[in-house]
Amino acid sequence: MRSCLTRWQCICRSLCPLLAAPVVWLLRLVWPPKFAFRAERLDGSALRPPAGALRVLHASDLHLSQGRLAVRRLRRVVEAAHERGADLAVLTGDFELPISVPRRVEVMGLLSELCSLMPTYACLGNHDYKIDQQDLLRDLRQCGVVVLVNEAVTVTINGQELRLVGVGDFWKSDLAPEKCLSLKEDDNAWAVPTLLLVHNPDAILMYLQKFAWTVAFSGHAHGGQLRVPFTNWYPLAPIRHNYLARPGLHEIAPGQTLCESAGVGNFLGIRINSQGDAIFLSIDEPKQ
Ligand SMILES: [Fe+2]
Repeated sequence: MRSCLTRWQCICRSLCPLLAAPVVWLLRLVWPPKFAFRAERLDGSALRPPAGALRVLHASDLHLSQGRLAVRRLRRVVEAAHERGADLAVLTGDFELPISVPRRVEVMGLLSELCSLMPTYACLGNHDYKIDQQDLLRDLRQCGVVVLVNEAVTVTINGQELRLVGVGDFWKSDLAPEKCLSLKEDDNAWAVPTLLLVHNPDAILMYLQKFAWTVAFSGHAHGGQLRVPFTNWYPLAPIRHNYLARPGLHEIAPGQTLCESAGVGNFLGIRINSQGDAIFLSIDEPKQ
C-alpha cells in the first residue's frame, strides 16, 4: 500500500507541471500581462535636508531569465530612459540574468546602454543569491551598474550631494543596515539626503525605520500579480505588510517615503488586474 501511494505521488508530481502548463497558457491568453510607466511626484521637502530637483528612474524585479517577454520589457525601459531622461536609475533586485549566452549578451548590452545614459545603482533581491551570484555581480558591474550590498556611496548629481545606500536581502539573512546607514539620532545622520535601495519593503517596517534615510525604493511584491478588483488587496503578494504591495508612494514616517514598484518582470507571466511597471519619480525643487 505504501509503495502504491508513493508511486501515485510520483505520478502526480510528474503530471503537475504538465497540467499547470495549459492553465498558465489559458490565464495568459485571458489576461495578457500588462506593463506601464508610472509617473510619481514628491514635494521638494521630501528630501532631508531639502535638495534640488531630482528625477529617478526606478525599475525592479527584472527576472530576465523568464523568457523573451522579460527582455522586451527591459528594452522598453531603456527606450523610455532615452526618451524621458532621468538623473539616475535605481534597480531594486531580482535580476535573474539569462543563462543562455546570446540572451545574456543582449541583456548586458541593454543594461550597458542604460548606464551610458545615467548613473545606475542596484541592490540585490532574494533571487540574486544563487550559486552563480559572483557571475551576476561581475556582469552587472561590467555593464556599469554600481551594485551596493550593505554599502553606501556619496555622489554628486546635478551639483547636489546624495548618499546612495543598498542593503542585502533579509529573506537571505544578508540584511546588515548598521554597516551602511546611520541611526536617526546620530550626528550628521541627516547631513546629506539618503536614497535607500531595499528589495523587500517588509524590511523597512521590520528593521529599517530607526535609520536615517529619506526615500526608499523597493519591489519584490510584484503587485501580488493579482489584485482583487476594486480593492488594494493583493492576496498572493509574498510580503507580511500586504498594503505595501500597492505600487506607488507610501509615507512610512514623516520625511521617509517608500517608492514601491510592481516590477518589470513577473512569475510565470501571469498578471491579473495588477500590471507591471517602471517608475519615473520626480522630486520637485524645494519652495523658497
Ligand atoms: Fe521578484
